[in-house]
Amino acid sequence: MRVHVADHPLIAHKLTALRDKDTDSPTFRRLADELVTLLAYEATRDVRVEPVDIVTPVAPTRGIKLASPKPLVVPILRAGLGMLDGMVRLLPTAEVGFLGMVRNEETLEATTYANRLPDDLSGRQCYVLDPMLATGGTLAAAIRYLVDLGADDITAITLLAAPEGTARLEEQIADLKVPVTIVTGAMDERLNEHGYIVPGLGDAGDRLYGVV
Ligand code: URA
Repeated sequence: MRVHVADHPLIAHKLTALRDKDTDSPTFRRLADELVTLLAYEATRDVRVEPVDIVTPVAPTRGIKLASPKPLVVPILRAGLGMLDGMVRLLPTAEVGFLGMVRNEETLEATTYANRLPDDLSGRQCYVLDPMLATGGTLAAAIRYLVDLGADDITAITLLAAPEGTARLEEQIADLKVPVTIVTGAMDERLNEHGYIVPGLGDAGDRLYGVV
């Protein structure tokens, strides 16, 4: 598993505002959206492409286009939805699948409660969106789910990550044979006893959509 912390001043600047407890939901949503576009730029460095011949107004030339099959973007419901627009802005031809996962706040185990994905992901490059890599349980379950359907290259984009969760995720998917990359806006200090990232930004789903 490869972990890439996208430490860019614009990312750090937007993350600072996102973390602030006084940032309201509309601003939080806008910042998360902007951040994802910056992270997506980093995360798509290895997106698969194929050559294409075109003619400019001046001369024929060879360029590239996104390869088939198209990449699949998979936001993890609910908080990952807040990252979807920012991602597809950069990858407008990608297909989108949905995976609903919920974390039991006592055991911190993740379970799947909804799935709208193609049956066969053979040969597909997948981009998983989940704002917080905390204990790693949700991402591990999501990545395993996609690999079981045939995905052969997975990049997860998170706004924040915790070192313990990143290490645990690596252990939990160590047996998988597909390349997995994590792209995150920052690696925070630690997890607290409730499984929250410290300093973090609180509950990403609640801050995006309210406490429901
Ligand atoms: N999920 C969140 O939304 N925030 C955390 O800090 C950890 C998990």
